Amino acid sequence: MHDFAPQPDLAKPELYETLARAANALVEGERDAIANMANMAALIWQFVPDLNWAGFYRAVGDELVLGPFLGKPACIRIPFGTGVCGTAAALAATQVVPDVHAFPGHIACDADSRSELVVPVVVGGRVVAVIDLDSPTPGRFDDEDAAGMQLVAQVASRAI
Ligand code: SME
Repeated sequence: MHDFAPQPDLAKPELYETLARAANALVEGERDAIANMANMAALIWQFVPDLNWAGFYRAVGDELVLGPFLGKPACIRIPFGTGVCGTAAALAATQVVPDVHAFPGHIACDADSRSELVVPVVVGGRVVAVIDLDSPTPGRFDDEDAAGMQLVAQVASRAI
């Protein structure tokens, strides 16, 4: 039904702009948060190379709860302030972690993960979810990936 062709030769800014546009088109007119997170996770997985996990954690009370994702089964509940995801949620700040083994409190869901990018999804000043990307490659994510995924998180903030 939706066939968004990823273009791996694009430079990162263009790749993420294309991804954010595709995400916007995909969620337009749909108000179901789970459906939109599921489709966005699938789109991220399709567009962004070199990932072993991509998906959402939702803020529920004072913890994060696993949402739609692609990758291996993951830990279900993460308290705010714990691990990379919980830190991003507690600080409402993107976390770029080049070496997950060097991050205090990192939660190892998949032993293949070596680097991680977590971007908060903010609605009305409140973190409602985070988008978590894991890669088997050390140092996989940089500021361009962070800025690009923040565009995607803005789409998510209107869709979940
Ligand atoms: N590594 C994350 C936990 C989630 S999994 O990577 C899917 C963390 O430290 O928060």
